[in-house]
Amino acid sequence: MKPKLKLTYESELKIAFLLLLLFLVLINFGTLYLLKVTKASLSKEFDQKLTTVGNSVKTLFKELQPADETALRKALIELTFKSEVEQIDVLDFGLQYLNPRILFSTDLNDPAVIKKISEQISPSDWERLRKGTPVYSKLIKEKLVPGQNQETYYKYYFYPFNINNQNHFVIAALKNRAGNLAALEKLSKLEFFFGGLGIFLALIATFWIISATLKPYREIKHKASEAQLILGESSANEIDSVVKTFQKTIDELKHKEEILRELYQSTSEKAQNLSRLNDYILDSMSSGVIICDREGKISRLNQAAEEILDLKSASSINSHYKKILGQENPLAHLIDKTLAEEKVVKNLDLEVGRPNGEKVYLSASSSLIKDDQGQLVGEGLLFSDISDIKKLQEEINFKEKMAALGEMSAGLAHQLRNSMGSIIGFTNLLKKVLKDDSGNSEIIQHIVTESLVMEQLLAKFLNFTKPLDLALEMVNLKEIINESFHQTSEYTKRKDIFLATPAPEEANFVMADKLLVKQCFQNLFQNAFEAMPNGGKLQVSIDEEKDFLKVEVSDQGVGIPSEILDKIFNPFFTTKETGTGLGLSLVKKIVNLHQGKIKAQSQTGHGTKFIIHWPKEPGTQPAAVDSKEKVYYLNA
Ligand SMILES: Nc1ncnc2c1ncn2[C@@H]1O[C@H](COP(=O)(O)OP(=O)(O)OP(=O)(O)O)[C@@H](O)[C@H]1O
Ligand SMILES: [Mg+2]
Repeated sequence: MKPKLKLTYESELKIAFLLLLLFLVLINFGTLYLLKVTKASLSKEFDQKLTTVGNSVKTLFKELQPADETALRKALIELTFKSEVEQIDVLDFGLQYLNPRILFSTDLNDPAVIKKISEQISPSDWERLRKGTPVYSKLIKEKLVPGQNQETYYKYYFYPFNINNQNHFVIAALKNRAGNLAALEKLSKLEFFFGGLGIFLALIATFWIISATLKPYREIKHKASEAQLILGESSANEIDSVVKTFQKTIDELKHKEEILRELYQSTSEKAQNLSRLNDYILDSMSSGVIICDREGKISRLNQAAEEILDLKSASSINSHYKKILGQENPLAHLIDKTLAEEKVVKNLDLEVGRPNGEKVYLSASSSLIKDDQGQLVGEGLLFSDISDIKKLQEEINFKEKMAALGEMSAGLAHQLRNSMGSIIGFTNLLKKVLKDDSGNSEIIQHIVTESLVMEQLLAKFLNFTKPLDLALEMVNLKEIINESFHQTSEYTKRKDIFLATPAPEEANFVMADKLLVKQCFQNLFQNAFEAMPNGGKLQVSIDEEKDFLKVEVSDQGVGIPSEILDKIFNPFFTTKETGTGLGLSLVKKIVNLHQGKIKAQSQTGHGTKFIIHWPKEPGTQPAAVDSKEKVYYLNA
């Protein structure tokens, strides 16, 4: 294959512009040539016309002798009109050319005609005329009408001929208008000047355009080579090389853009995942979280906060915290203070009202949210519901008070019991001394009886307050229930109450202190007997519930009025004349020691039901571990 001529981009551009310049020059020369040809043809026509006229003048002079002046004049004037020649003069120069004689002139008005004509003939022209060659004068500019500004160009045509005498050298000077020729000549000069100027300017413009057009290309090429991006190609293919280089750069940029897009996508996915994780963490927290910006607009409120404060998060977002929490809400005050003073608060106990009027106890901490520059952008509030802890705390406080009271009471009861023993001893002695005094012995017997009642009360009280150690063993609840019922029946000497136990045999075993369990049921049955003075059914059921045995003791007795139902487990609470009010307290204490639970349900006039959840096995940590607590734990 024939190798293809490879040109650089620069060379191609230069050649293109030079060709353009050449084209301009050719056009210019073409125009000049056209003008030249036109001028030549016009001159030729002009010449031919004047030659014809010259010949006519010559013929006339030959035919009509100059002597016949009138006829000659007439003929020549006719010729002037016919041939449209401006003026015809026939001059006789004799043998000298310096002093011509006018033989004839159609321009009678111009006396200086000879001088004017002579001036048009140069010595060289004269020589040529002498040799018989017609001669043209130069273009003469003259006023069309003397005294007026209108001007035109003329030209003389000198035509030499002889008439008769060889000593006469005659010239016919034909003056004719040459405006067209003058215009053409002027046009040629202008065309030459402006054409030349145009070519010169075009040359400058070409160089300027080439350098301006190549400037960015050269810069790109320079930068590319500076950045060592140009691929190893031949210089003839530089433009391809630059284009390829930039194509490569564009491809690389596209590739990098793709990587950036992927990076952005993965980053935004990560951000979304992080935000979802944040949401998940916030919503799975049991503590409430409220986040608001510097202006106090809530940006986040988690589920726990909604539940604790009984709010709706959807309507809270983007609202001001004061609008959502209320102006007087202590949490609002805390946010206020933190934002205003830029000081955080830790574990502050607050009592906060909910929209439904309930109160919750919160432990709240505030924190400041700052940007990278350390500027405050918002605040976070973390709070947990400590209502249960608060309640427990109150219960503990109450129990501590009761324990202290129990300690005091136990000490007092012990002293009273000792004194009571002395009183009974001395009273019995007095009874023996006053054996015969029947009047006083009855009084003494009353003292003894009342003292014994009091002594029993004190014994029971001391029994209640004494430490209880659990001696755990496998206990058949049903067996104990039966035994307790019979003992209560024996003790109260009542046969009008019967026991119904629908529970299955196999589900009755628990790890418990047998004696205490018996004591527990004896007290419950004693109360049931007392509540049913006219007899009735005492029903005990045992059911298994997970790790517990649920024991229900129901009687058909008088029932307990609802207003005292929550007091029956309090020590010393009794509605009975001879009651101590310690029976149910002891029952609750025993059940709690086994880590069980007891509650009562009752309907006045229909009966009472005690429900005990008795653990199959008490937990590892007994309810009371401390001996002091065991002794004085009155309201267990
Ligand atoms: N089964 C029951 N039916 C109706 N009232 C009951 C029943 N059991 C308890 N009560 C009420 O609860 C009160 C407290 O009972 P608790 O056994 O503690 O004391 P008490 O029976 O009054 O006195 P004590 O047990 O020392 O004889 C009773 O006075 C009684 O009013
Ligand atoms: Mg009782």
